[in-house]
Amino acid sequence: MIEAQSRPLVSADGGIVSRRIFTDEAIYELERDRIFRQCWTFLGHDSMIPKAGDFISNYIGEDPVILWRGSSGQPRVFLNTCIHRGNKLCLFDSGHAPALTCSYHGWTFNNEGQLTGVPFEKAAYPEGIERGSRGLVTAKVATYGGLIFASWDPSVPSLDDYLGEMRWWLDKFLCFDDFGGMTYLPSAQKYRMPGNWKLTADNFIGDFYHVPIAHASFMRLFGAGDNRYEPNPMGSFSFLCEPAHGIGAVGTHDGQFQQDMHIAQYMGPDAQEWVKARDAKRKERLADAAKADGFIAGATFPNMTFQGVGAFEGELIAVAHPRGPLAHEVWQWLLFERDAPASVRRYAAAWTARRQSANGLVGEEDGENFERIAETARAPMTPELTFDYTMRGYTADRETWNVHGLPGEPSRAHFSETNQRGFYRYWAKQMGLEGQAAA
Ligand code: FES
Ligand code: FE
Repeated sequence: MIEAQSRPLVSADGGIVSRRIFTDEAIYELERDRIFRQCWTFLGHDSMIPKAGDFISNYIGEDPVILWRGSSGQPRVFLNTCIHRGNKLCLFDSGHAPALTCSYHGWTFNNEGQLTGVPFEKAAYPEGIERGSRGLVTAKVATYGGLIFASWDPSVPSLDDYLGEMRWWLDKFLCFDDFGGMTYLPSAQKYRMPGNWKLTADNFIGDFYHVPIAHASFMRLFGAGDNRYEPNPMGSFSFLCEPAHGIGAVGTHDGQFQQDMHIAQYMGPDAQEWVKARDAKRKERLADAAKADGFIAGATFPNMTFQGVGAFEGELIAVAHPRGPLAHEVWQWLLFERDAPASVRRYAAAWTARRQSANGLVGEEDGENFERIAETARAPMTPELTFDYTMRGYTADRETWNVHGLPGEPSRAHFSETNQRGFYRYWAKQMGLEGQAAA
């Protein structure tokens, strides 16, 4: 039961958020139902399961699931539990199998989720066993540009409607078909993070304010300081896409391209050609929109995050799986263009490991802050305190911002919490707690 307190859990504009939503067991329980049963959750990319029978294990919230390419060629998502008596069916992270057999009593299910094998069937069920009602529990599945999502709610809005304006950004920056389309580096990195899952989601959806501070040592080490922090009309912007998706630190100058060319000169002609060709394709894709030349991070509600800074970093897609109110697990995969030169793919893999990974400098710097947030969350005062997302940034020169044709609500990337406010407004709506007083 969610007890009443004296102020709203989430203020009407999303700018003031009770700390209870990051710590409270009852709120967490409600999230399991209202968020993770009812929204679309990202589970994988087409390239992870190219052939019928390929599978990976993943989670929708805390529910273990199998993402499995069915015989029909369609991706299927099943609750990873044997329908007989609840054993976990698939025990592997990934693999290929036309069918999986439960390790307890040996029931077998095929990659369409049907019960196909029952040991000692004639002796055990002389009257026969009705198989139709004994298939695996199946989620609704939809894909967008190779990204595979699932939901337990049969009446969930279509994935296209759910992604809304975010589709434009996914088309232009994450899911394009140029250079052979996107493929993933076969491996997943999984690590436990302290703190509530929403800390990672709101960090990626639009918290660029923390970058020059929390990641100061990384920036100093790698000389990543650039004009992105300058509040000029050609600077970098964030975009809130309804209902609660966002992308940010979108540069609308050619700073990223220049940086990529700088790196390419040390890597040889292949890389230089690649950067130029990639830039030309990007400009073509953007048609008459402002020529955004890259972004740093983004997120789709509730818990898919992505990063894709430049030509040498690939696209890092991750999910923040909830693990109780005060912990979450990050599962991440690196994608890049299939036709990218080998030198670029090697660079992307090494750079990601060094930067955004369990032992990467940037990931650790965020994790340390989350750990301290989780520590203070145990304080008895916590339920009475709030998080502050009221930052609006300098907007007086808004008319001159170089954001023509870029969809969503723009704000200055490093100096605004517009995207986070959108995230928490929608969170409250989806939870049925809109306007509900933390009293
Ligand atoms: Fe799987 Fe019995 S629990 S066959
Ligand atoms: Fe960070």
